[in-house]
Amino acid sequence: MLRIAQTLNGQLLAAMERAFPAAAEQARAAGQCLDPQLAPASKPEFGDFQANGALPLAKPLGQPPRAIATAIVEQLAADPAFAELFEPPQIAGPGFINLTLRPERLAAEVQARLGDGRLGVPEVEQRAPVIVDFSSPNIAKEMHVGHLRSTIIGDSLARVLEFRGHPVRRLNHVGDWGTQFGMLITHLKQVAPEALITADAVDLGDLVAFYRQAKQRFDDDEAFQTTSREEVVKLQGGDPVSLKAWGLLCDQSRREFQAIYDRLDIALCERGESFYNPYLAGVVADLDALGLLVVDDGARCVFLEGVSGKDGKPLPVIVQKSDGGFNYATTDLAAIRYRFAPAPGGDGAHRVIYVTDAGQANHFAGVFQVARRAGWIPPYGSVEHVPFGLVQGEDGKKLKTRAGDTVRLRDLLDEAVERAEADLRRRLVEEERSEDEAFIQHVATTVGLAAVKYADLSQNRTTNYQFSFDRMLALQGNTAPYLLYAVVRIAGIARKGGDLQSGGPAALTFTEPQEWALVRELLKLDGVIAEVEEELLPNRLCTYLFELSQVFNRFYDQVPVLKAEDPARSSRLALCRLTADTLKLGLGLLGIPPLERM
Ligand code: ARG
Repeated sequence: MLRIAQTLNGQLLAAMERAFPAAAEQARAAGQCLDPQLAPASKPEFGDFQANGALPLAKPLGQPPRAIATAIVEQLAADPAFAELFEPPQIAGPGFINLTLRPERLAAEVQARLGDGRLGVPEVEQRAPVIVDFSSPNIAKEMHVGHLRSTIIGDSLARVLEFRGHPVRRLNHVGDWGTQFGMLITHLKQVAPEALITADAVDLGDLVAFYRQAKQRFDDDEAFQTTSREEVVKLQGGDPVSLKAWGLLCDQSRREFQAIYDRLDIALCERGESFYNPYLAGVVADLDALGLLVVDDGARCVFLEGVSGKDGKPLPVIVQKSDGGFNYATTDLAAIRYRFAPAPGGDGAHRVIYVTDAGQANHFAGVFQVARRAGWIPPYGSVEHVPFGLVQGEDGKKLKTRAGDTVRLRDLLDEAVERAEADLRRRLVEEERSEDEAFIQHVATTVGLAAVKYADLSQNRTTNYQFSFDRMLALQGNTAPYLLYAVVRIAGIARKGGDLQSGGPAALTFTEPQEWALVRELLKLDGVIAEVEEELLPNRLCTYLFELSQVFNRFYDQVPVLKAEDPARSSRLALCRLTADTLKLGLGLLGIPPLERM
């Protein structure tokens, strides 16, 4: 409907200019134009669109807004292109103009989507290289639920941007550099030296435990601290033995992370913090040359403008510690510079999106400001932090296992699939169906993983979210199983003899309000995708798919489809097919594959 809205906006504007040439002239003189204030109708009974542009003109024109609306509507009605698209407009309330598309136009829009693989979602006119920085767990640490959120949300945003035609680079900014390796290598040299020379000598679980011990020693033992620091310097200086050990540790973690990505069918290109190591000194030197650096208590930092701490003093972004080491912020500055720099020495990005927990908001705000002041973000470039809230248990506290440990992602995904399997087996018994093992495994895996993804995506990401297997696996409500079931229901219609594959009848005819409601819902897809692209909120797409499923179920429960006579039958089957295609497309953008049966 976006294209129609655009056309309508032009027609409204022209009508307003014809009705009030003096006001139009005045606006133009001020470098503006009249504003039709076009929006989707707030309720179906108001039609498809609503234009409120008459109201703000009342004062300057000294006329009642209804009279202004009437004058605009007269001009609109005289425009043959408008009359071809819309029913005669209605004026409501103080002077709102309600606009309803002609039924044959709506039907024609549906018809056009039946033959269009993109379902009316246009490709962008201006392709702009985008980087989505997401997932980004840390080596030698367990990937936790926060990383899972980042992985799921980042993947979905990348899918939407890719679908719109942007070249997207999905970067996994893994934490693979820094002090943690100094501690870990020093500790392992003493307790498990084999881990530093042979692959697979320890598994990630052990590595995480070693890391914890190393951290403990680092905090308690000064001599250990010193050796660890020396070890980091050796590593960062390219010492071959340290590098070898580091490489082995990274491989170990990488395999574990990859197993999760494979299960979730998520593509990522690893480019960890270590990649930017050669650029760190240059970043600091350039900040210095630009006159942005201040030495504060031995540390080199940039003081932020407009951001102050509790004491009212401006806050610094530290880019080099007093011991000469670089940190997380230095790496992110080097990364920003590299990402916007043109190829071959950079990525040539136009937009960089960071998907992390909301706790890193200050870090990114600081880094963005410094990068901007340093001139590393070009004028056309945009950097966006896409924050998300915490994952909580059902008790509203941090998600923990019953034993009080942090939840391992592998276990969490296993449990979702196991529960989905148990639900399915129960249903099969109830429905007296028998299915083979391959079917059960396939459905359980798809539903389990879809439920985990959808539960996360369907929440407004900015709020904390309560993790509940029961809720996410429910067949009712705004859940993955409910949406998957709607697709399955439509596949069932095809199996019962409805030919969904044909292009639909030459002319679609609709008579029932449930049909029109479904038509209107189906035509919202392009607007919803545009919104997600703009606001980076996948939950908008989830809400839409949920509403579409509900409207479809109402239609299918109340209007005969297979038993209807042509042309109603084929028109209704066409709606079924477009609904299935829309749901599949939408679920695909959320990273959820559909099922034919479940
Ligand atoms: N490794 C970080 C963490 O676990 C996330 C990195 C996000 N990306 C970035 N460019 N800083 O919190």
